[in-house]
Amino acid sequence: MANTELLNVTVLDEVVVLTLNRPQALNALNKQLITDLHGFFTQALESYNCSGVILTGSGAKAFAAGADIKEFVTMTPEEMQALSALGHELMFAMENSPVPIVAAIEGYALGGGFELALACHLRVGSSKARLGNPEVNLGIIPGYGATQRLPQLVGRGRSLDIMLTARMIEATEALDWGLLNRVVAPGETVETAQKIIKEISSKGPTAVAKVIEMVADFYNKNSDGFEKEIETFGALSAHKEFKEGTQAFIANRKAQFKN
Ligand code: CAA
Repeated sequence: MANTELLNVTVLDEVVVLTLNRPQALNALNKQLITDLHGFFTQALESYNCSGVILTGSGAKAFAAGADIKEFVTMTPEEMQALSALGHELMFAMENSPVPIVAAIEGYALGGGFELALACHLRVGSSKARLGNPEVNLGIIPGYGATQRLPQLVGRGRSLDIMLTARMIEATEALDWGLLNRVVAPGETVETAQKIIKEISSKGPTAVAKVIEMVADFYNKNSDGFEKEIETFGALSAHKEFKEGTQAFIANRKAQFKN
């Protein structure tokens, strides 16, 4: 998928950089932008053969300030529900992506924007990042998965604090709580995300994909993750990447997983 008006797609050293491109509305996620993201993660990503994806917002002020509130007021309850379902599909596709997705958060990541960041595997925030779920201010609840994903990340007490008070969490507190994996100076989030993906790309790609899959499986109520780990551990030991990784260790050289 090429660029769309609202979603800028570039490739930088085998990493796809997706930039939400509505700076005049603090990159608020309208239906078209959710549709573009959905198209990218459910169809286009496969064709990129990349080692990871960075998701960021245009401008220094916001990653994304939530769903588009101005569009909401034009929608029927049925349309709102359908949009929520589309957003959920998008977030599941991201969470289950075999390559790592890192959110690079400059400024606000609120509401649906925060939920988009929660569906990424890792989050790098600038010291000016502000995270939160202010939906109750609007008389609604989060609609893109925060009621489920936030407790997975920070537990029930902190999730209720964030979602009931609607307060914004500053970068240092977000780092302390594990909402952010790294905090860097303003303007440095994309570069840091790029370094993280580069580091991951030197590892066995099948093992990386399986770690993502297995950790996601922990939250699948219908699956026995321990059993799956045993099977996957055994299966990967027959993979050529395991052979390369172990031979490299024994020969005291760096493993070469590509090609
Ligand atoms: N939707 C639509 N437009 C938005 C927006 C949003 N979520 N957030 C900001 N904007 C627009 C503003 O209306 C404004 O547009 P105009 O210049 O045309 O007036 C522009 O972006 C700049 O915003 P502000 O002037 O408000 O900037 P600020 O610095 O004064 O405040 C802010 C920044 C605190 C983030 C404030 O914009 C804000 O509170 N935004 C809304 C945050 C929010 O409630 N998000 C949750 C949305 S609901 C949701 O996301 C549901 C879900 O889970 C799916």
